[in-house]
Amino acid sequence: MTNTYRSCHSIEGELFFNHLNKVGYCCMLTPNGGQPILYENYQGELIDWDKFFKQRDEHIELMKRGLSLPACTDCLWIKDAKWEVRKKEFRYILFNIWVKCNLYCIYCSNHKDENVLNNTKEYNLIPVIKDMIEKKLLTENTKIDIAGGEATLDKNFDEFLSLLIDSGVKNININTNSTIFSKSIEDGIKKGVVSIISSVDSGTPKKFAYIKKKKLWNNVWQNISKYSKSINQNINNNSVRTKFIIIPGINSSKSEILKFILKSKKSNVSGVILNIDLHWLRQHYDDKNTMTEIINLTKYFIRIANILDIDWQIWAHIEDLIKRYNLVQESSKIDIDFIFDKTKNKKTILDKFFIIILRIISLTM
Ligand SMILES: C[S@@+](CC[C@H](N)C(=O)[O-])C[C@H]1O[C@@H](n2cnc3c(N)ncnc32)[C@H](O)[C@@H]1O
Ligand code: SF4
Ligand code: SF4
Repeated sequence: MTNTYRSCHSIEGELFFNHLNKVGYCCMLTPNGGQPILYENYQGELIDWDKFFKQRDEHIELMKRGLSLPACTDCLWIKDAKWEVRKKEFRYILFNIWVKCNLYCIYCSNHKDENVLNNTKEYNLIPVIKDMIEKKLLTENTKIDIAGGEATLDKNFDEFLSLLIDSGVKNININTNSTIFSKSIEDGIKKGVVSIISSVDSGTPKKFAYIKKKKLWNNVWQNISKYSKSINQNINNNSVRTKFIIIPGINSSKSEILKFILKSKKSNVSGVILNIDLHWLRQHYDDKNTMTEIINLTKYFIRIANILDIDWQIWAHIEDLIKRYNLVQESSKIDIDFIFDKTKNKKTILDKFFIIILRIISLTM
């Protein structure tokens, strides 16, 4: 059953354990700050869920009346739409509570914001997870995302993940740098309920070391290959993906992208993802030339992935970049649909020739 009213998808069924020990409905930034905060200084204590759902109903009533929480004012996600009758369970939960990491990626949002790095206290999630499972707030319909820092460094990580898996949650995605091999991640992949995304962002050991400040290229790909071997094709064939974040001027070359996709293919990952450094994007909304370069690199990424028969995804920040490019460009607007179009064109003779060359390059990697 559905009802039509003014609300947002986040408030309707999501929960975010965010950095800076805040719990809220989302991690969106809006002109008024976004990220409505439900609990501050949160450190894993049990939550009074009846009170939580009552409060959520009140916040939705505000939206229905054309108002909203101050943080949500002018948020683009508020809309009049048909909403499913709300249940006392969560459709989506993000755990973004870790800041510790063994790498130092030059683009990483954590390091860019010293406030996050210095003022987030990591805490033990186990008690609250057990409570949520007991209260049936986590179900097989709940999608969970785990971000960081690097969650696998947490001494409670294995217990945390096993708890989630054993509770029957079927869709757990972990963003990990894959420097540490986790047995519980491997088990979850085998069962078809855990997927990982590893942002490698480079196609060569040299670039990897430059971006991440550690020489762990071989180690990371070994772990990714090991995870790939566990993919359960019957249940979840999209469970080990690698990501390339374009950092303009640093890794924004065709050769780096080509080598990244070849290495991903060789490691038998289920798919590759392309995104752009969010901080660069925020600071360069008017840089038409670099934007054109990124759009061309995106097309190249799709072409190579198609030629190599590897699944691909282009993430929302690039969609945002193309939309903004269209705004700053007076003529020749770019049709955005190519970043979603999965219909693969037939391979030309030239492509087939190219595949042979790529196989030879791949042998040398
Ligand atoms: C903060 S990380 C934590 C997870 C894990 N350590 C990793 O690197 O995958 C969560 C995700 O945000 C991405 N990320 C961090 N900074 C970003 C930025 N400036 N622009 C785009 N994505 C970013 C990372 O690549 C990663 O996939
Ligand atoms: S209205 Fe926007 S800022 Fe508020 S909870 Fe929804 S998505 Fe988050
Ligand atoms: S590995 Fe992840 S958390 Fe660590 S620095 Fe890189 S992006 Fe940030």
